[in-house]
Amino acid sequence: MPGGVAFSGSWETCYRVNLWSRIASRVLWRIHEFPYASEQHLYDAAKALDWPRYFTVERTLRVNVAAAGSPLRSLEFATLRIKDAVCDRFREALGRRPDVERASPDVRIHAYLEKDRGALYLDTSGEPLFKRGWRAQQAEAPLRENLAAGIVMLTGWQPSEPLLDPMCGGATLLVEAAAIARARAPGAKRSFGFEKLSSFDARLWQRLKDERAAEPPNPQIFGSDTDPEALKAARRNLAAAGVERWVKLEQADVLERAAPASTGVMVMNPPYGERMGSLEDLASFYPKLGDALKKRFAGWRCYIFTADLRLPKLIRLAPSARTPLWNGALECRLYEFRMVAGRPTRGSRP
Ligand SMILES: C[S@@+](CC[C@H](N)C(=O)[O-])C[C@H]1O[C@@H](n2cnc3c(N)ncnc32)[C@H](O)[C@@H]1O
Repeated sequence: MPGGVAFSGSWETCYRVNLWSRIASRVLWRIHEFPYASEQHLYDAAKALDWPRYFTVERTLRVNVAAAGSPLRSLEFATLRIKDAVCDRFREALGRRPDVERASPDVRIHAYLEKDRGALYLDTSGEPLFKRGWRAQQAEAPLRENLAAGIVMLTGWQPSEPLLDPMCGGATLLVEAAAIARARAPGAKRSFGFEKLSSFDARLWQRLKDERAAEPPNPQIFGSDTDPEALKAARRNLAAAGVERWVKLEQADVLERAAPASTGVMVMNPPYGERMGSLEDLASFYPKLGDALKKRFAGWRCYIFTADLRLPKLIRLAPSARTPLWNGALECRLYEFRMVAGRPTRGSRP
């Protein structure tokens, strides 16, 4: 479905996906689907569920409603009606109702409303999955962790190949690449929504967390940036994620630095827009970047992630692939340039 995938499975599958998915934002458990045409129908559909079976009255609660093509005028009112239905069901069963907590609720209920059908979900993730629990310091314009992991995966990088991010900022791409190479579970340092549900199986969860993969090989991962503050943040983030020994950082300008190996994968996310680089600055930067790649990165596959759709023209290299991606609401591309003997070829993807 747009923006998501659906699957079915046991709780073990649910726990594993939460623990191991590097690219998902949330794993939602669909508990009810129903037709509707009014707020009252939403109330009735939500009231029909045996909520005290799913979680105890001591848990705090939050309801989120998202809609596409819904005839309802106020999603706020729809949210309120669903929350009322859940609380009324508790009150009828136990004489008490759970409290609402907006910032960090124990239990999140999501409703998705289409034109005439709705669905209710319990959120098994809790905090979104891009929050891995390692980000110690915000550098400027960091990528979300799940987007960064997705970009690394789309490059087709194998941990046996060298990887370089020469505009590494706070090192999101480098942390995610190192975690992939070292088979680190992205969710190992955080808690999850499913731990707050009555179905929670603590022994199963502990067993899944204790599973160890075979000792993975040592990757060769490199990062650089011109900004010493960004490098400081990068060092802290790499250390917090426990992967600093796999990543070599240095202060360098991408236009001048040498390749750290004769072949490899370069991946980067240049500044874009008002926050970091003006459009004029970037228009003069891209041709120089193209020259630097031609001169010093023959033999490398280079990937540039940007919202600046002028890039392929201005860099004066022919991309061999362009993958559309969304960074929040911003439409972006991941451009692939295969650098061969000083010029790119239009090759097929790995
Ligand atoms: C958008 S940020 C990268 C964010 C990073 N991908 C992350 O998620 O943390 C762009 C970075 O490029 C760096 N930069 C700008 N011009 C550079 C240059 N000529 N050489 C190397 N780094 C540069 C900036 O200091 C900034 O840290």
